[in-house]
Amino acid sequence: MALMEPVDLCGIELAHPVINASGTFDAIAARRAFGDALAEQFPFAAFVSKTVTLAPREGNPPPRLWELAAGMINSIGLPNKGLERYLSEDLPELTGLLPVPLVVNVMGFSIDEVAQLVSAFAEREEVAALELNVSCPNVETGLMMGAEPGEVSALLERVRPLTAKPLIVKLTPNATDVAAVARAAEDAGASAISLINTIRGMALDPRSGEPWLGGVTGGISGPAVRAAALAQVYSVSRAVKIPIVGMGGIQSGQNALDLLRSGATVVAVGTESFRDPAAGALVARELAGLAANSDVSFLT
Ligand SMILES: Cc1cc2nc3c(=O)[nH]c(=O)nc-3n(C[C@H](O)[C@H](O)[C@H](O)COP(=O)(O)O)c2cc1C
Repeated sequence: MALMEPVDLCGIELAHPVINASGTFDAIAARRAFGDALAEQFPFAAFVSKTVTLAPREGNPPPRLWELAAGMINSIGLPNKGLERYLSEDLPELTGLLPVPLVVNVMGFSIDEVAQLVSAFAEREEVAALELNVSCPNVETGLMMGAEPGEVSALLERVRPLTAKPLIVKLTPNATDVAAVARAAEDAGASAISLINTIRGMALDPRSGEPWLGGVTGGISGPAVRAAALAQVYSVSRAVKIPIVGMGGIQSGQNALDLLRSGATVVAVGTESFRDPAAGALVARELAGLAANSDVSFLT
């Protein structure tokens, strides 16, 4: 199994199986920092945008980060410029600089909001696929969109007919039965599943004893969540036939290989890119070396 051979992710051809996790690599900022070298040595086989919402968002009040022994808790709160300015400002800039397919990650606070986002991107040829971030409450039902099979079915049934583009459903690990949610997404027309998003966590200010994060709770990511990611990818891969984008704590080719072996088709590097913006390239290189030097076998 030559892992550096092109990989098909629901119809999108990727040069290798390592992409970025949403919100952890800013291609526009990286272009400013690294210039033309970025396009020449782009660290990922596809670029996944930070979550875009219908209206602009300021994000959560500071502090927004808490460092853990093996990762961090973030309570960034999805700050972004909103759909209109993303379409007029970021999309043209990204199209000019990306040497790889673009996946736009979107989130709405109601099914109708998600439908508006999907419809807007459906018309844009620059966008190869959409990732639906369902780690948020549906204000109409009060239920977490991605935590209940019925919520995910209702969402997909509404948005699936709006575009021919692949729809990758990014699941929250903060659900009772993630595999059941994945199955509901597949049955209602999802093209792929991505997981895991961050695991809910909290930290206290050691002096005051009050919550440290401005958003009170946040999401744990990095090596601390790797074992949870492995278990969830494994369980979802047994529940669905559509491809899985596996992520959570990847720092090395071996970590990536573990997720591929447990059922992922593609892997995504997240928190590690904050320590080293070239982490994606390193993981892909190490993965290719492991595949070339060992008798790699997969569980699926
Ligand atoms: C600072 C930060 C910002 C993130 N922003 C987003 C986001 O905008 N949308 C999203 O779907 N996931 C977001 N995530 C979750 C990651 O994409 C990923 O699912 C998670 O961090 C697990 O991977 P990791 O352990 O490799 O970081 C964010 C994670 C971090 C650490």
